[in-house]
Amino acid sequence: MTALAKIEAPSREDRQNHGLLTLEQSLALDNETAMGLYAAHLNKYMLQVFDILGLAHMDIESAQGAEITLRDGRKVLDYSGGFGVLGLGHNHPRIIAAERLCHDRKVLDCIKIAPHKLQGALAYNISRFLPKPLDVSFLAVSGTEANEAAMKICERVQTPKGKTKFLCFKGAFHGKTHGPLSLTTATDVQSGFIMGVPKENVVFATYGDIASVREVIAREQFEKGNRIIAGIVETIRGTSCHVPGPGFLTAFAQLCRENDILTIFDEVKVGMGRTGKFCAFMHEDVVPDVVTLAKTLGGGKRELGAMVTSQALFDKAYGNKNDCNLHSSSFSGMGESCAVGIETLNVLEDEQLIDRAGLIGNYLQARLEKLREKYPRKIVSLRGKGCFQAIELNFGQQLAEKAIDIRTNSLFVTYETVLIGAMARELYERHGILVHFQPGARDLLHLMPPYIVSEAQIDRLIEALDDVLGRGVADATVRFVVKNIKRVLG
Ligand SMILES: Cc1ncc(COP(=O)(O)O)c(C=O)c1O
Repeated sequence: MTALAKIEAPSREDRQNHGLLTLEQSLALDNETAMGLYAAHLNKYMLQVFDILGLAHMDIESAQGAEITLRDGRKVLDYSGGFGVLGLGHNHPRIIAAERLCHDRKVLDCIKIAPHKLQGALAYNISRFLPKPLDVSFLAVSGTEANEAAMKICERVQTPKGKTKFLCFKGAFHGKTHGPLSLTTATDVQSGFIMGVPKENVVFATYGDIASVREVIAREQFEKGNRIIAGIVETIRGTSCHVPGPGFLTAFAQLCRENDILTIFDEVKVGMGRTGKFCAFMHEDVVPDVVTLAKTLGGGKRELGAMVTSQALFDKAYGNKNDCNLHSSSFSGMGESCAVGIETLNVLEDEQLIDRAGLIGNYLQARLEKLREKYPRKIVSLRGKGCFQAIELNFGQQLAEKAIDIRTNSLFVTYETVLIGAMARELYERHGILVHFQPGARDLLHLMPPYIVSEAQIDRLIEALDDVLGRGVADATVRFVVKNIKRVLG
């Protein structure tokens, strides 16, 4: 008799019953119950935000492409695009097939004590899309983790030279874990946290302004050269959708190189084809030392990011058997995630989706331009490239700017939040269109369609915008305020 056989199995009655929901039950939950669980066990304040925007009651059945289907059969057009995750749209059939293939073949997902075939294959595929010498990857599970890896590799190479600082841009967004958070000032996300990189080790320039970069670099000279480890830049601003002027990225990289400063191009949001090139920096003739990817790399189905650099830089940072694992993470390069990443890159290539993102983006931009001509007093400006566009609405900010700092004045911030929230809610409730806005830019409606969006779907968006703009901000705001008073009082 084995030792195990001596252990008496607990009787059914004695077994602890945790009262778990099964997966079937979870999928079948009615919306009210599901939201109750969200409030009780996740984040009830976030739920209140969704509720104010009219989105807590969106009872979702399924999603495909650019469309979300509600349980009552209504179709919602998703221009929020998972804030950039959904370049291929929801549930792309080839991504589902790739996952199914992995399941059918019982593909190994996790092995830490031996290499995984699919990791090398994914890193090779990524390198095929990038200019030389960017061909060595670290696989991450998010954008912020890719940026952590980028910061750390640069620190390893540069701190022995006595360098101590990062150069970033005022109002940037690079992620919310401690390292990238230290370089993130798009919104007030730093308050109350101890920074991963101390404040005195971060210097700021003005985005898109090469003279300001030059000034900051000049200030950081010391007897051994320049104190700056690396300069990190969003190739298009994620929060403000600001596209820097032509040549800015090239001039930035050149200035950094002249001063022995490494360059990190953050392509987390706009890389992977969104602007009509694999990375937005590829619209110029420039190559950074490090590039970071995430969001669409996971095909809309997996958590996947990558920090990509050259073999030469990798060697300098981690180039021996003792140091090669100095940066690592448990979930880096899980088999099925790699499979999805590999298939995502093949879908981009086979379906020519990068070109398509550029072309359909041009169509969207042209239709928005017409709308701007129709509403010159309501639309202040249009911004963006390819499948990342934003509409700056006129909330009187130009007038207010003369009297107050509209970015910090709390009354103005609340006022703008109500107006932009009202416009977003109108688009959803009247027309079944999802758009989004970001706390760092409360006068901008962001549009991030998947690259497979059709012209007809864009036409539907434009008709909806036309209707909502035609009714006016005041109309939307009254409805918004009334609905939320009902919510608070009722
Ligand atoms: C430019 C940029 N960098 C980094 C991040 C952080 O990515 P994640 O949310 O996957 O951590 C984001 C997220 O939106 C982003 O827009």
